[in-house]
Amino acid sequence: MFDSLNNFITFDIENKFLIIQNLPIMKTTTSVFFLVCIVSIFTFSRCTMQTGENQAAPEVAAKPDYNGYESREAWGEHLVTVGGCNDCHTPKKMTPHGPDLDSSLMLSGHPAQMPPPDIDRKEVEQKGLVVTQTLTAWVGPWGISYAANLTSDATGIGNWDESNFIRAIREGKYKGLEAGRDLLPPMPWQMYKHLTDDELKAIFAYLKSTKPINNVPPGAQQPVSAAP
Ligand code: HEC
Repeated sequence: MFDSLNNFITFDIENKFLIIQNLPIMKTTTSVFFLVCIVSIFTFSRCTMQTGENQAAPEVAAKPDYNGYESREAWGEHLVTVGGCNDCHTPKKMTPHGPDLDSSLMLSGHPAQMPPPDIDRKEVEQKGLVVTQTLTAWVGPWGISYAANLTSDATGIGNWDESNFIRAIREGKYKGLEAGRDLLPPMPWQMYKHLTDDELKAIFAYLKSTKPINNVPPGAQQPVSAAP
């Protein structure tokens, strides 16, 4: 019988139908009310516990922020593209529509076997600058500079760590070494140094993921005449 909460909890399943049938309407209503209360309290406490767990969860599984890109490398590739790095670090090939990036040599710098332009360097140093059609070797008042290999190969940035890269861009140091010489024009590190740490890390992660291309560009050359 559903006379009390105790009876209600321990009722005989086999007789359930008959007992309910025999209950006065008041008792049935009271019992159902009790049942609803107990179920509600239990459900509410479970919900509160679960809400507590769910509130803590986002901190543990916080999704890294790559500025809307699905990975750090993808973000870095975007920054390299819009930052114009390929303009100087990727050799060009001529097409009917003018020079275009040589996609087989992406970011590999000035090709080692390509000689510098055959010009009167003294005259060029005094009058302006000359650049190869690949846009990778630059002759000017600073001498000759050759765009570096930025691919993941050991002849590129393969052996660099993140701090080398950040120092190269922030302080304009060759190979990102503290004692490295100052980087020459036209590498625009004075502009790129304003990139945030996260942006520089993204660029470096992307460069580390590039196809390795073995290429050692020639060393930079001093000007032939005294600097103006
Ligand atoms: C206008 C041409 C130009 C652009 C654009 C350019 N670079 Fe350079 N970069 C150079 C040249 C030339 C050198 C070699 C300078 C030297 O030898 O002193 C160089 C050197 C570097 C170095 C140092 C390499 C070493 O071995 O020390 C890094 C790193 C670098 N560039 C990264 C980048 C990145 C990343 C971008 C794009 C965000 C970029 N560069 C855009 C021309 C350019």
